[in-house]
Amino acid sequence: MKFIYAASVLLATCSAHPTKRITQAPSMLNITDADILQYALTLEHLEDKFYREGLANFTLEDFKKSGFNEVLYKNLKEVSYDETTHVSFLTQALTAANATPVAECTYAFGVTDVHSFLATASILEGVGVSAYLGAAASVMEKLYLTAAGSILTVEARHSAYLRKANKQSPSPQAFDTPLTLDQVYTLAAPFIVSCPESNGMLPVKAFPMLSVTPEADCIATNKTIVLQTKEPVAVEYNEKFYAAWISVTGPTFVEAKLESGNKFSTEVPVGFHGQSYVVITKKEGSVTDDDVIAGPAALEVLGANGEK
Ligand SMILES: *[C@@H]1O[C@H](CO)[C@@H](O)[C@H](O)[C@H]1NC(C)=O
Ligand SMILES: *[C@@H]1O[C@H](CO)[C@@H](O)[C@H](O)[C@H]1NC(C)=O
Ligand SMILES: *[C@@H]1O[C@H](CO)[C@@H](O)[C@H](O)[C@H]1NC(C)=O
Repeated sequence: MKFIYAASVLLATCSAHPTKRITQAPSMLNITDADILQYALTLEHLEDKFYREGLANFTLEDFKKSGFNEVLYKNLKEVSYDETTHVSFLTQALTAANATPVAECTYAFGVTDVHSFLATASILEGVGVSAYLGAAASVMEKLYLTAAGSILTVEARHSAYLRKANKQSPSPQAFDTPLTLDQVYTLAAPFIVSCPESNGMLPVKAFPMLSVTPEADCIATNKTIVLQTKEPVAVEYNEKFYAAWISVTGPTFVEAKLESGNKFSTEVPVGFHGQSYVVITKKEGSVTDDDVIAGPAALEVLGANGEK
């Protein structure tokens, strides 16, 4: 929450920069199915621990005091059980493929109360959907693809349920967003404190973190937002930057103006609603590892009429 969702918004002008849509460059990675299963297991461990820890932190009474009922509490237990089951399923699949399944890591979720637990749960489920969706095209073995698909659909229902619990539209747009392994890892990495050495290295890397400040209730189409990197960005003379908003049909590029060492101001393009993902890149046209400066950041974009 504090990292991937920390956000700041400038409610300045509402005029739009021109936007451009170009197909996303294919990934150069040639990863094996075992790599993808390990990657999926890494994420499932994170989700599994998240729910078990949250349900240990907060009792039914805590949920009731925060305005939620027993039905929600029971359903969260089911969600938690699903994630535990995904972990054992992937663990078994890897063992059967003669690989050593990655183990659970140590995490810092930054949850302080029932509301931040549910908000973070919703973000994690959304990222989970985008992770399975983005990895699908790299899966070679059809049986794995069906298995991954059967997890993806369940994560999507978790996401819809949690969005509804957080008073957000359960399905805010017609398409979900595929994210690459590196993009997902960038969003997951801030939650991971350390992992057992025996886990080895996944063939993924995290880009520098990108956040939106302050946390926004008012990120909406055509609004100016400020995207912030942790470190100052090195700039060459006359260099331009772009915010690339990821979508299944390819990114939408919007100019991102470097206002100070690490703050870019940019506008939310038309066509995004709900949990959305944006990276800062040096090139318009395609999103490649070499050109990405930071991100993605995960943002919640309001609908055209301000609805969640
Ligand atoms: C990627 O890996 C697959 C499976 O190992 C292999 O058949 C294929 O030739 C590889 N492609 C490239 C571009 O290396
Ligand atoms: C559980 O509580 C600890 C201590 O307050 C907190 O650091 C952690 O983020 C919480 N985790 C969840 C998932 O609620
Ligand atoms: C955003 O700006 C575009 C172009 O100026 C305009 O057509 C559209 O109606 C605006 N949408 C919203 C929700 O403000």
